[in-house]
Amino acid sequence: MYYGADYYPEHWPQERWETDARLMREAHINLVRMGEFAWSLFEPQQEHYDWDWLKRAIDILAAHGISTVLGTPTATPPAWLCQAYPGIMAVERNSQRVTFGERRQYCPTNASYRALSRGIVTAMAEQFAGNPHVVAWQLDNEFGGHHPRCYCPECQCAFQDWLLQRYGTLAALREAWGTHFWSHDYTNWAQIPLPVDSNGVSNPCLELDFYRFASEQWVAYQQLQIEALRRVIPAHQRITHNLMGFNFQEIDYFDLARELDFVSWDNYPIFQTGDPAYIALNHTAMRGLKDMPFWVMEEQSGPSGWQVMSRQPRPGQIRLWAYQAIAHGADAIVYFRWRTCRFNTEEYWHGILEHHGQPRRRYYEVQQMGQELARVGEKLEGAMPPKAAAIIMSYDDIRTLRLQPGARGLAYNDIISSYFRALHQLGIPVDIVPPNADLSLYKLVVAPILHLVTQEWADNLSNYVNQGGTLWVGARSGVKDTSNRVVDSPLPGLLAELCGVEVEEYDAIGRASTCEVELDKALLGLGELRLAGHTWCDILQPRGDTETLAYYASDYYTGKPALTRTRYGLGTAFYCGFMTDTGTMLPLVRYLVESTGLEPWSGLPEGVEVARRAKEGIELTYLLNHTTEPQSVALPGAMFELLTQTNTSSSIELGPYGLAILSPVAIDKLS
Ligand code: GAL
Repeated sequence: MYYGADYYPEHWPQERWETDARLMREAHINLVRMGEFAWSLFEPQQEHYDWDWLKRAIDILAAHGISTVLGTPTATPPAWLCQAYPGIMAVERNSQRVTFGERRQYCPTNASYRALSRGIVTAMAEQFAGNPHVVAWQLDNEFGGHHPRCYCPECQCAFQDWLLQRYGTLAALREAWGTHFWSHDYTNWAQIPLPVDSNGVSNPCLELDFYRFASEQWVAYQQLQIEALRRVIPAHQRITHNLMGFNFQEIDYFDLARELDFVSWDNYPIFQTGDPAYIALNHTAMRGLKDMPFWVMEEQSGPSGWQVMSRQPRPGQIRLWAYQAIAHGADAIVYFRWRTCRFNTEEYWHGILEHHGQPRRRYYEVQQMGQELARVGEKLEGAMPPKAAAIIMSYDDIRTLRLQPGARGLAYNDIISSYFRALHQLGIPVDIVPPNADLSLYKLVVAPILHLVTQEWADNLSNYVNQGGTLWVGARSGVKDTSNRVVDSPLPGLLAELCGVEVEEYDAIGRASTCEVELDKALLGLGELRLAGHTWCDILQPRGDTETLAYYASDYYTGKPALTRTRYGLGTAFYCGFMTDTGTMLPLVRYLVESTGLEPWSGLPEGVEVARRAKEGIELTYLLNHTTEPQSVALPGAMFELLTQTNTSSSIELGPYGLAILSPVAIDKLS
């Protein structure tokens, strides 16, 4: 398994490189990522290149058994370039052009920047394609960070062209966007504005298309780099990009991931302290982009922050976070960064080594994990979680709901994560998938909210249920069409027939008040259960044979259906009209899970996480203790623990921030 660090040899005197390589080897590091911000050194003047220093660094590292991932340096166009080509600088939504001084200043649409990028990427590829120590390429760095959308004149023309391709005629665009409203009818394409600040609240249909356009610009810009590389590099040098997790939602990552050989992403758990489930959600979402193992290209290895730094990772936490990533599908861990930089913006963003470069506590923790992976890493990589439950995620919904949440406090991430947490807490393996995914392998599919629905997606869900699947659809679904207009049939629109239900009325409750819900005990067998919903409620009217499983018990809609279940073909569809928190919905989700034949993990102590990965018929169970206390976890039976190479009894003790990797069979049978 690759185990590495992000290394910036250019930040240190060359005399130090040998020491770094030796310390890395002693920590069992076998991979570095280099070069992704070094354009000003690679090309100090236009078309005058210097690659020697990087070649030297690669050689020194290789002599210690360390391979290299090369980053293309386009996230940081140098000062000479920005001065010579001022048109490449992105324009913000407030119509101000970005100036030089940070990074990621460029517009991905700009033709000059595209040509310059092709130039540097090709030149770099020609130098390193034949280098036996280069195993992969990372394109740019964190597309969309800092300036996710550009509002420059070139983007405006490109957007107008994009719309022409999409709609064909102005009549079609006018219909799709409802432009009779407030005299927004366009009589030629050049009139179509960008949704800049001075527009005020612009048309949500235009806004959604602009988001889509801007996302596609990144995908196209990435494609240009992929093509430039593939023309030159051998197939065994694989191509990736470092994405930013579930949390970053400015680019449709399903699209961005499509042409990459594998996904990698940058994991900084300390910014989600105390919430390992949210980190798990991020890993899960990144694995789901290609439904294959991923890499962590930047894994937190110290206190982090630009002006103010986070708390220190507690002893054991760096290792635990890295194993958590592996538990959810990471096949490589690369720490950010090898040594803490002494200068410029990231002086306080710590790496494995302190500023002084001498090994300390965090280095020894990384070394411990390196030793472990050297022994068992091969057994872990390549495995995938078993297919059990899927949660549907849609970038269109992220955008539409950001533009118009509909109720105060309605937040897409909260809705998705409330369901994810419930399933995760029950120990059910979850995938995060797009609405057009092949759902046939899942026993349970949850659409926590599917606000914008296309006919293709509705058909995909219907086919899944028709063939025996169980689908749970959450409130406020089926509201919008592809253009971001409200549908003209009773809600949930294209999902009404499948769910056997109509939304009679809705109430945008917000977060300041709640609605009471009472579950039907006879039907659900859950005993007396009243719960509080919040944010939104759909007041339901079942159609045909649809059963009502819960009723509202407050306000003028007391006694009206709140949760329904219907048979559709061979399967079952639930529609849940209310929103609530993980804790509140847990009994319901447990009921749902059990109704599909999936088995929740029982008796998991709070703060202990379970995750599974299987390959070649053998499933490894990861137990991760995210608490500061020792925890005892009951096991389904005696198992074999890989890291300690011991057999367990029917329970296992996990130390503070400790973990176990359990196999049903002894390690020798695994190899
Ligand atoms: C990441 C980025 C790195 C570094 C790090 C710390 O998002 O990819 O280059 O900037 O954050 O700020």
